[in-house]
Amino acid sequence: MIIRSRIVGCGAYLPERVVTNAEMARMVDTTDEWIVERTGIRQRHIAAEGENTSDLAFAAAERALAAAGVKGSDVDLLVLGTATPDNTFPATAVKVQARLGMTGGAAFDLQAVCSGFVYGMAVADNFIRAGQVRTAVVIGAETFSRLLDWTDRNTCVLFGDGAGAVVLRADSGEGTNRDVGILSTHLHSDGRHHDLLHTKGGPSSTRGIGAIHMQGKEVFRHAVVNLARVANEALEANGLTVTDIDWLVPHQANLRILDGTAHKLNIPSERIVVTVQRHANTSAASVPLALAEAVGDGRIRPGHLVMLEAMGGGFTWGACLARM
Ligand code: UT7
Repeated sequence: MIIRSRIVGCGAYLPERVVTNAEMARMVDTTDEWIVERTGIRQRHIAAEGENTSDLAFAAAERALAAAGVKGSDVDLLVLGTATPDNTFPATAVKVQARLGMTGGAAFDLQAVCSGFVYGMAVADNFIRAGQVRTAVVIGAETFSRLLDWTDRNTCVLFGDGAGAVVLRADSGEGTNRDVGILSTHLHSDGRHHDLLHTKGGPSSTRGIGAIHMQGKEVFRHAVVNLARVANEALEANGLTVTDIDWLVPHQANLRILDGTAHKLNIPSERIVVTVQRHANTSAASVPLALAEAVGDGRIRPGHLVMLEAMGGGFTWGACLARM
């Protein structure tokens, strides 16, 4: 008997306020043309004053639970990938836990920046496979707008706020691992690249939160290589090839990174879910936002093989291969 984790519901939430590139051009020395040409981004959603990561996370999780037909009280594990928690402690996840009516089990935050959701999927999947958990909610939620230096054109045009969530359920049965649910997850990190993408701040070092600093070109180069490599690693682990993938749902940082990875993997662009134009880079939220959108509009259907992958500060990166 094999226990697998099935994705039984997806949900997403985007703050109401949309900020266009034209508005950004009124704040910093930039243009719509530059942003579109270098990143593909046309707009981003920005959380309202007083609207926090926990609010975004709760809204996405509530929608995922509704889509799955699962009550909050039935959830054993809640993992929230975020680099923008409401408070230094306690975890934002416990706020969401309480609001969902989840009275038992465990809830915690997971910090892997843009890879936070994929890391969360790996954690929850392993708890389910080990038989310790039957129902898990995995969320990626961020208010990166709060970390931005709104005078730094190198970074402030790139990010947005949002949240996405999935409900995972244990499914036990005979058969091969290829039939249904999460086939495998693959995580990596390499702390030697810490300074290429980081905030100069934090409770232990400076007591402030610090703004984002990024060496864009270096991050870009590593992203394309690492994302293609980890996708191939996931395929090889399951005896599959790129032609078996119905949908690639990658982290949405830059359209040129998506194109570069697609080229390296030799996967046609029609099989890639792209939301970066409308959402910008929402860090840990980007993959579950894109997944929820493509499930919601019927592109991703039951039986489809879906590759989720992400790369972010640390560096951290990873992939999750799932049969829907
Ligand atoms: O989520 C984690 C992963 N993050 C990423 O994957 C981000 C990876 N990196 C990138 O997406 C790209 O490197 C950027 C979009 C950040 C930058 O694009 P680029 O093609 O690598 O541009 P660049 O850094 O080489 O900058 C080119 C020029 C510079 O001017 P000079 O020095 O050549 O005169 C920048 O000052 O573009 C300038 N620039 C801008 N110009 C107008 C930088 N930002 C802007 C801006 N508007 N917003």
